Amino acid sequence: MKVLLFGGAGYIGTHVAMAFMDRGDTVGIYDNLSTGLRSNVPEGAYFYEGDILDREHVSAVLSEGWDAAVHLAAFKAAGESMIKPEKYSENNITGSLIIMTECEKHGCMNFILSSSAATYGEPQYIPIDENHPTNPENYYGYTKLAIEQNLAWYSKLRGMHFAALRYFNAAGYDTEGRMLGLEKNPANLLPIIMECACGMREKVGIFGTDYDTPDGTCIRDYVHVTDLADAHVAAADYIMKNSKNIIVNLGSETGISVREMVEAARRITGKPIPSEDQPRRPGDPARLVASSSLAHKELGWTAKHSDVDTLISSTWKVYLANTAR
Ligand code: UFG
Repeated sequence: MKVLLFGGAGYIGTHVAMAFMDRGDTVGIYDNLSTGLRSNVPEGAYFYEGDILDREHVSAVLSEGWDAAVHLAAFKAAGESMIKPEKYSENNITGSLIIMTECEKHGCMNFILSSSAATYGEPQYIPIDENHPTNPENYYGYTKLAIEQNLAWYSKLRGMHFAALRYFNAAGYDTEGRMLGLEKNPANLLPIIMECACGMREKVGIFGTDYDTPDGTCIRDYVHVTDLADAHVAAADYIMKNSKNIIVNLGSETGISVREMVEAARRITGKPIPSEDQPRRPGDPARLVASSSLAHKELGWTAKHSDVDTLISSTWKVYLANTAR
């Protein structure tokens, strides 16, 4: 299979590229390197430096003939999306429409979208399955929902098949240690804990300690990026084999609190990792945990590497490798 990954030089995209290449697929990576790194591009992958808003360039690359497109080229900071919605509408929504339109024009009719649990908003029940109402709390989540809805229309009107993969909290690094690129300016919990562990940051702020959870801190479902990557391969096979669409959650089905994550990181790294209780961060639901039974049933996918120890130790190795340089 020939797969073109938009945003394939980023944190998740690089792992997805390796998963396709591991089984012998031809991989192309299209990335503007705004957050991705050239050094992340695996050896043997084709690389196209470009922006998804550059329709002519997107079109030229797609004209080379691809069986499937994976779309991971999006801004993803939920907080920022509430302050700069135009940045998110332009890149995430307009950019996606350009990719989808050019894919269809060039006969690339299988589309795998990197979507998000942020499409659900504040949970009405836990675990969250795919029938849960979608009511995004932030503009970022709305952009992902809008892309999914456009894909459904392109499917109806033009026969495109798509998989929308609703990730919960992506974390961890390649379990085989092949990916060493750190994200630029990370805002997520685990990289921040790691920055603290290796002395790049003084302390971890714990955002809210009065939630209705056992230890008062927010609970999330962390899913290892190697597991996420495997799901993209399974999803591509699924839509091509069955000629149908799927919208599916990807989570470990396990909830871990912020405090539990900090404590586990202290144990695994052996570092003190100072923390400070801070006020709640606006827009944070108390608890997000996935039901991934649809992914088990339809894709034959289960999270295999998403235990806390593997999440933290695989990330810690990469931070150690970077700080030792
Ligand atoms: N947190 C802290 N301190 C920090 C950073 C985060 O306490 O310095 C807390 C947050 O308040 C939250 C938890 O750690 O309770 C996880 O926060 P992240 O920022 O790592 O992740 P989010 O749950 O906010 O969002 C992530 C992705 C989104 C995706 C969502 C889906 O960033 O893109 O998971 O579940 F939509």
